[in-house]
Amino acid sequence: MTDTGRGTFMKEKKPDLKPNLNIKTNLKMRKKIVAGNWKMNMTFDEAETLLTEIADALDDFTLDNTEVILCPPALYLEMASDVAEEASFSVGAQNCYPADNGAFTGEISPVMLRSLQVDYCIIGHSERRKYFNESHEFLMQKADALLRHDIHPIFCCGEVLSEREANSHFDVVRKQLEESLFHLPVEEFKKVVIAYEPVWAIGTGVNATPGQAQEMHAYIRQQIVEKYDYETANNTTILYGGSCNAKNAAELFSQNDVDGGLIGGASLKSEEFLQIVSAL
Ligand code: PGA
Repeated sequence: MTDTGRGTFMKEKKPDLKPNLNIKTNLKMRKKIVAGNWKMNMTFDEAETLLTEIADALDDFTLDNTEVILCPPALYLEMASDVAEEASFSVGAQNCYPADNGAFTGEISPVMLRSLQVDYCIIGHSERRKYFNESHEFLMQKADALLRHDIHPIFCCGEVLSEREANSHFDVVRKQLEESLFHLPVEEFKKVVIAYEPVWAIGTGVNATPGQAQEMHAYIRQQIVEKYDYETANNTTILYGGSCNAKNAAELFSQNDVDGGLIGGASLKSEEFLQIVSAL
């Protein structure tokens, strides 16, 4: 049982479907993260209310080796950074363009994000892959651009339903990692957070089962062992995303290779989001 200061939550361990890489994985020394991806939601006033509600409530939390990240729309990043100065959360962007500056109308660069104390940036989200045709190569450029300015990419990967049904989900995720991240030298790769987000689970109310999440997270960690080394894999934070909410978070987070969540819809209400943080 973990007493978080906001209620007591039971963490029931379920048997894993796959063996751990080794015993050290159980120690979960790597950082745990709950990140809220607000997507294209909230007016300025609503954003201000949500930010302050979360900031106030987090004062009562003990966040050992745990980070809460809020990723509001870009328009509200400055406000989020101001609130974060006195609060226990970090600020993340939802997107960036992989150049420092220049004639890219409407885009936002990592340099600009850094100037607002933004420490994280989501890349590779399935909505951007789908609606904006973002390629593996483009995501590789974004990862490089962010890391040049000391911003941690939160790299999303995951398969669509037809790929899972065709049993190609492992290959799909491996290719996403290989083509956009595995060119990084190990010291740079260590700054990346990975989010496994099966596309069929995003915004659908149908989350991956804890077993499905664990199986893919263990697979991702194994790919990192093979590309880099055991220690790097063991220290990489791998989040689950896709219809994660206050009801299912504790069971998902109790899986050995699930180090927290990237939360969409359920991050828009402070109470539910904070319950998810409590589930870590
Ligand atoms: P969801 O979205 O929690 O609303 O399913 C998750 C995400 O897209 O990051």
